[in-house]
Amino acid sequence: MNPFMHGVTVTGKDFCPRPELIADLRNHIDSQQNCVIRGVRRVGKTSAIIEAVRSYKKKGYIYINCWGKQDIHSLTTAIYEGFLIYQRNKGLSLEKIIRTFAHLRPKASIDPYSGEPTFSVDVNEHDSTIRSVEAVFDTLAHESNNNPLVVVLDEFQELLHLKEADIIMATLRGVIQLQANVTYFYLGSTRNLMDDIFNNPDRPFFKSASSVNVMPIERSGFSAYIKKKFISGKRTVSPASLSAIFDAACDVTGDVQQLCSEIWNCTDADDIITEEVVPRALARIHHTEHESNSRIIDMLSPGQVRVLVGIALVGGKKTTSKQFLSAARVAQPSSVTKALNRLSQHGLIYRDSEGYKFFSPFFRTWLLTQEL
Ligand SMILES: Nc1ncnc2c1ncn2[C@@H]1O[C@H](COP(=O)(O)OP(=O)(O)O)[C@@H](O)[C@H]1O
Ligand SMILES: [Mg+2]
Repeated sequence: MNPFMHGVTVTGKDFCPRPELIADLRNHIDSQQNCVIRGVRRVGKTSAIIEAVRSYKKKGYIYINCWGKQDIHSLTTAIYEGFLIYQRNKGLSLEKIIRTFAHLRPKASIDPYSGEPTFSVDVNEHDSTIRSVEAVFDTLAHESNNNPLVVVLDEFQELLHLKEADIIMATLRGVIQLQANVTYFYLGSTRNLMDDIFNNPDRPFFKSASSVNVMPIERSGFSAYIKKKFISGKRTVSPASLSAIFDAACDVTGDVQQLCSEIWNCTDADDIITEEVVPRALARIHHTEHESNSRIIDMLSPGQVRVLVGIALVGGKKTTSKQFLSAARVAQPSSVTKALNRLSQHGLIYRDSEGYKFFSPFFRTWLLTQEL
């Protein structure tokens, strides 16, 4: 069986150890310090936080994914559902949960992927006002009086898209600051939105939490983990091919796993994985993503595409340099600036201290195979 997992939260034996990050997160838990966790998509934020809290006996945790929540009703529903899973993890029987929380009309089922119990609750949609947000947070505060809690709010920036964003944010901030026994972790992949929430003095969450950046796993530690996985299928991976994998995936944890998974699929037991296997595996990823990538290109102007190709070729550090203009085949630096803004708005690139980067490393490698 293919041992490489991507697109899911990994914990336990599937989790490549990150002792410093886990210790840092646990220090924040111990000191009840609310914390913003930033990092690019698929770098491993959710996995690291779940790994840090899951096996930490001192406190229970509640996981809430804010992604896709459209309104107060779906948000409060998700929090109650997370709360019931927490009750179950704490050891409460299904019968007891159903009886104790009968007002939520809970229904239990088994998650087909994890095999763990999940719950759906039925909170009255018509009663869903900002009062119900306060009520669900009161429930958490009440629980924390007996059992200190960690509450993980994943993809927190998504709440900014709700119609009632302003009042929800102000209310959350108000209730959270009164909860002495709950530690909140706010996770987010979209740096500018997370900065808008936590670094903008006009926002209620301004400077309300300390900050942890999740960076890619260091190559040496991650290489050992990857080699071990390949060895479990009697495959040997050469150091040069490992470097090629990290380069192609721009060190993004989930993308490294995806590429390794594809390499696994195109090799057999007793194979030695050399550098030439990497482009073959990449080609398979490009093949499956070709259609959606082409649609993205169709939506862009020719000038924007050329700027993308420029970043793919020479990197996005000095985007007004002669070298960049020539790689992008653009005459004016001002056209590059305009294109970079549009490409950022489309969510194709982002900017960090090292310049502009692709959100998706394999979109970059795909671009390099196209004649655009
Ligand atoms: N510690 C880890 N060890 C091994 N793989 C990991 C680790 N953390 C993340 N990954 C890989 O990255 C993918 C994305 O992880 P996830 O935690 O969902 O990232 P994020 O929340 O930052 O988007 C996982 O499916 C897995 O392939
Ligand atoms: Mg995540």
